[in-house]
Amino acid sequence: MAETITITDNRTGEAIEVPILNGGIDSAEFAKLLPGVWFYDPSYGTTAGASSAITELDGEAGVLRYRGYPIEQLAEHSTYLEVAYLLIHGDLPTTEQYDAWVHDITYHTFIHENVRKRFMEGFHHDAHPMGILVSTLAALSTFYPDAKDIFDPESRYKQVIRLIAKMPTIAAGAHRHSVGMPFVYPDNNLDFCSNFLSMMWKVAEPHYEPDPVLSHALDVLFILHADHEQNCSTTAMRVVGSSHADPYSATAAAAAALYGPRHGGANEAVIRMLTEIGSIENVEPFIADVKAGKGRLQGFGHRVYKNYDPRAKIIKDVAYEVFEVTGKSPLLDIALKLEETALSDDYFISRKLYPNVDFYSGLIYQAMNFPMEMFTVLFAIPRISGWLSHWQEMLDQDSRIARPRQLYAGPVARDYVDVVDR
Ligand code: ACO
Repeated sequence: MAETITITDNRTGEAIEVPILNGGIDSAEFAKLLPGVWFYDPSYGTTAGASSAITELDGEAGVLRYRGYPIEQLAEHSTYLEVAYLLIHGDLPTTEQYDAWVHDITYHTFIHENVRKRFMEGFHHDAHPMGILVSTLAALSTFYPDAKDIFDPESRYKQVIRLIAKMPTIAAGAHRHSVGMPFVYPDNNLDFCSNFLSMMWKVAEPHYEPDPVLSHALDVLFILHADHEQNCSTTAMRVVGSSHADPYSATAAAAAALYGPRHGGANEAVIRMLTEIGSIENVEPFIADVKAGKGRLQGFGHRVYKNYDPRAKIIKDVAYEVFEVTGKSPLLDIALKLEETALSDDYFISRKLYPNVDFYSGLIYQAMNFPMEMFTVLFAIPRISGWLSHWQEMLDQDSRIARPRQLYAGPVARDYVDVVDR
């Protein structure tokens, strides 16, 4: 069977044969036959915006791999920082490479005092931590003018390290500010996740030691959220990066995209939904309402996964580990009943609607005492390694500036009318 497609322009009778490579067709080939004819795909549902060697996602089969490694193996054996190395460099590190990487990240966790004092503390007392994060990332570009040197490998590496390292510090600082607690400086004797938990929760104790089960659970969640190919925020990163903006400005744009409830905010919607359902007896009527078109089952369904989201399975196991330490969430039984009911109902089966990553992650974050406003921030902390790996890849591919065309649907040409005559 030929791996090609033939396109005929019926206006001229001209035809071209275009090869299908790797499941895609190069639009430059179409353009030769159809100059000035654009593909109308406003949400990019059928457009591959990039060729990428970072994350492989097969939504039909429920497969997710970073650089070829199955997410299940990484979640079981790796650490978030090792996964960040893998995403950025393309291969797992040797012991020496890993030690150097962890050392570099650990010693870049501090933020400039003026970022904290003059900038972060300037926000209103009840500022949303995600708003603080987005703005602080953009502000960092003014502290590191060397970041503009995006084609210098040394400068690029430094910005990658700084951004991965400073995310927990900014995130925890944003939370502390929004609840009126004093800023906690990084403790570089702690591992990445323990240090973040220390900056979040430390009060007056000289040294904060988080429960290792909770640090490990967070590490697994960070691995699962580190990348997810060409999602909305990663696309924002690549598009803004294609203009050769510095990486702080580009990550601020990506974080802004993540802020939206359709992207980073779904786990919060799950908690609200479970709270509203309130008890197991209300699950059946709630499902009936969803089937009748009154709202959606939050944490179910995905644009790409038409099978169980592999991350949801791992998260469910992590949830039980966390509840051993924190006590069971009262919402867990409702979530389990909801999942069981939906997975045996033809409405959900026929539409291939399965639990996604957000169905259980909110329950874990809530059990660990994170306020709901922090849920999207918790998503952003590890996702920065995915954004940065895509940014590097895009620059190395020597991409042109992202510049789609449009189908103009406005008025035809008309003459200006003076205001008194309108
Ligand atoms: N509950 C009930 N019905 C649903 C749901 C749901 N969660 N999701 C999809 N459907 C139904 C739709 O009503 C539609 O039914 P129809 O064919 O009878 O009209 C069908 O399934 C297909 O749905 P689409 O809207 O075409 O699916 P799409 O791919 O556009 O949406 C999305 C994907 C946005 C994730 C959707 O499933 C949804 O809203 N889920 C709930 C929110 C959520 O959990 N989001 C997190 C996604 S994961 C992430 O971003 C990290």
